[in-house]
Amino acid sequence: MLEENTLNVLIESREDQGNGVAVLRIVSRDGSGLPGFDAGAHIDVRINQDLVRQYSLSNAPSGSAAADHYRIGVLNDPQSRGGSAALFADFHQGKEIQISAPRNHFEVASGTGTAILVAGGIGVTPIISMAHELENTGCDFEIHYCLNALNTGAFVEELKADFASQLKIHCSVDKKFDPSEAFSNRNEHAHVYVCGPSGFMDWVIEAAKERGISDQRIHFEYFNAEVDLAGDSIEVYCSDSDKTVMVGADESIANALSNAGIRVDVSCEQGVCGTCITDVLEGIPDHRDQFLTDEEKDDNDQMALCCSRAKSPKLVIEI
Ligand code: FES
Repeated sequence: MLEENTLNVLIESREDQGNGVAVLRIVSRDGSGLPGFDAGAHIDVRINQDLVRQYSLSNAPSGSAAADHYRIGVLNDPQSRGGSAALFADFHQGKEIQISAPRNHFEVASGTGTAILVAGGIGVTPIISMAHELENTGCDFEIHYCLNALNTGAFVEELKADFASQLKIHCSVDKKFDPSEAFSNRNEHAHVYVCGPSGFMDWVIEAAKERGISDQRIHFEYFNAEVDLAGDSIEVYCSDSDKTVMVGADESIANALSNAGIRVDVSCEQGVCGTCITDVLEGIPDHRDQFLTDEEKDDNDQMALCCSRAKSPKLVIEI
């Protein structure tokens, strides 16, 4: 989270939904508005001095107008790397916290045909915001909400009330999500939006491609991913700093640069948020992030320093 981008805000309320999800309503400390946002946007939340995590905004988007609040849903995930668990334990009504202004890498495409919104578990948060935006703009859409057990997910009652005719709830025991039903025989204007656990997203994205939805019409946002740093040591020349840094085997470039006194802005440290994306001037990156598109990766002119490595022995990067 960039310091100049920091907003000092207040948790106005917290609602525990009883399924391990805390829903936080965040407002400015002085009652003024917050920066506006479009559906699919997320904010960085500072958990503590060393930890920043990303959360999608789940309320109706304000567009370019100021927002009176932001709403996020936080899953108390025992598998998390500590961020969500710490936030779930410590972030209560009345706490003053720091967040970033909204950023959006998961926007609703303009002028689309039917939007097929697919959510797995807590991945429903940006999907709710998208549903509001699509409804406000008169677009055709449907929501597929996939859960481990019927009606046990966060925001279920709200979705039933607001989007009764567009909502389909699926569960892994019965009423399973059927990719053929959702994706087959769609016209060329249909777009798919998916958010949820990494494995679920991989499966949905592959299923949509197999049924004829082109890459350009499949939109997704990962919130966590396995990071594989395995590889030989790399020589990295940092052009702005005029420093050469040796990155050890199995070490992240961001970490090596940081240890050498070169500031690298990182946030998720898993290759999903885009904070550490840096221009590459020479050399071939070994892309391991989930943020850049396949086309951007093929260009080899930028890379995620928190997780990607190199196919060439040396990289020159602009930092
Ligand atoms: S810090 Fe998030 S992609 Fe690198």
